[in-house]
Amino acid sequence: MKALVYQGPGKKDWIEAAKPVVEKPTDVIVRVTKTTICGTDLHILKGDVPAVTEGRILGHEGVGVVESVGNAVANFKPGDAVLISCVTSCGKCPNCKRQLYAHCSDGGWILGHKIDGTQAEYVRIPHGDNSLYPIPAGADEEALVMLSDILPTGMEIGVQYGGVKPGDTIAIVGAGPVGMSVLLTAQFYSPGRIIMIDMDPARLELSKQFGATDTIQVGAEDVVAKVLEMTGGLGVDVAIEAVGVPATFDTCQKIVSAGGAIANVGVHGKSVELHIEELWIKNINISMGLVNTNTTPMLLKTLSSGKVNPAKLVTHRFRLDDILKAYDVFGNAAREKAMKVILAA
Ligand SMILES: NC(=O)c1ccc[n+]([C@@H]2O[C@H](COP(=O)([O-])OP(=O)(O)OC[C@H]3O[C@@H](n4cnc5c(N)ncnc54)[C@H](O)[C@@H]3O)[C@@H](O)[C@H]2O)c1
Ligand SMILES: [Zn+2]
Ligand SMILES: [Zn+2]
Repeated sequence: MKALVYQGPGKKDWIEAAKPVVEKPTDVIVRVTKTTICGTDLHILKGDVPAVTEGRILGHEGVGVVESVGNAVANFKPGDAVLISCVTSCGKCPNCKRQLYAHCSDGGWILGHKIDGTQAEYVRIPHGDNSLYPIPAGADEEALVMLSDILPTGMEIGVQYGGVKPGDTIAIVGAGPVGMSVLLTAQFYSPGRIIMIDMDPARLELSKQFGATDTIQVGAEDVVAKVLEMTGGLGVDVAIEAVGVPATFDTCQKIVSAGGAIANVGVHGKSVELHIEELWIKNINISMGLVNTNTTPMLLKTLSSGKVNPAKLVTHRFRLDDILKAYDVFGNAAREKAMKVILAA
């Protein structure tokens, strides 16, 4: 079978790789029908994620059809259509028992990281019963791919950890796929005002179509001054960081109101300066973490009832064979006006 294989920093190729087989009784082999590329894959290619070694097949998102199952798999059989979760979980270890699937002792984020991932014709999913979801009949596969990672991430680490409430004024720093997922899922809680902050005017424009009430363009405007002006000097109830650089975390520290919250979603490679001398008196909460995907069942319901439409994040479509072209488009998102790319087998 063919797969997108990482070959060291800056190097990857769509080449022949060994087809996965059932190695353990809980394994499910899935024929991938649709997958996508995540910002995290770009981080990996830059060499930012040293746990990824040469020869690794990338990708942690997708939908497909069950090809074969180990003899301990109870919930799936060949031919079943499934959604692949970016987080693998055994469902039995102490962390799984408290829904902290991101920290499963035999799973967590391993796909396209520590084991071969979904940017391939076939993928092996360990602990298939707990790490796959049956796809509802007639569901939109492209929308479902957004439920592998970005929608649960935005919902759990941005909206739920931030404690977004009806009427709140919130700011989302970063209008990439993850920031947009925060934007879509925050609206379940009816915030009064959603301020989207990014340097890319095309993404800010798109965010308005998805429900942002205000936008601020980094570089063209003084972000902190503008937020304070918009909020009568108070700041925002929830400041959500969805980029992963020190500057954007710092913005969140400066725009959070007394009694508010900073929810950090971005993956950081550098330390940030925590201004505890300013923040201690403000009665705020700061949160961060890796997505647990424990909201996936709920998000599946909101998708099938039409309460959320993540398919609108898809801007480009390619055949799986053209994945190198897709990486070029996704890696130059501003130039290409790209948000999420779909790769179809
Ligand atoms: N916590 C988790 O479990 C989890 C899961 C998935 C992704 N992530 C992380 O979330 C972050 C966002 O992911 P993404 O796929 O949307 O990334 P992305 O790179 O596609 O989007 C980031 C956005 O931030 C904007 N940006 C860059 N610098 C900025 C600045 N100084 N001020 C304002 N905006 C700025 C960019 O223009 C872009 O629109 C990444 O760090 C990713 O690794 C975290
Ligand atoms: Zn991801
Ligand atoms: Zn576990």
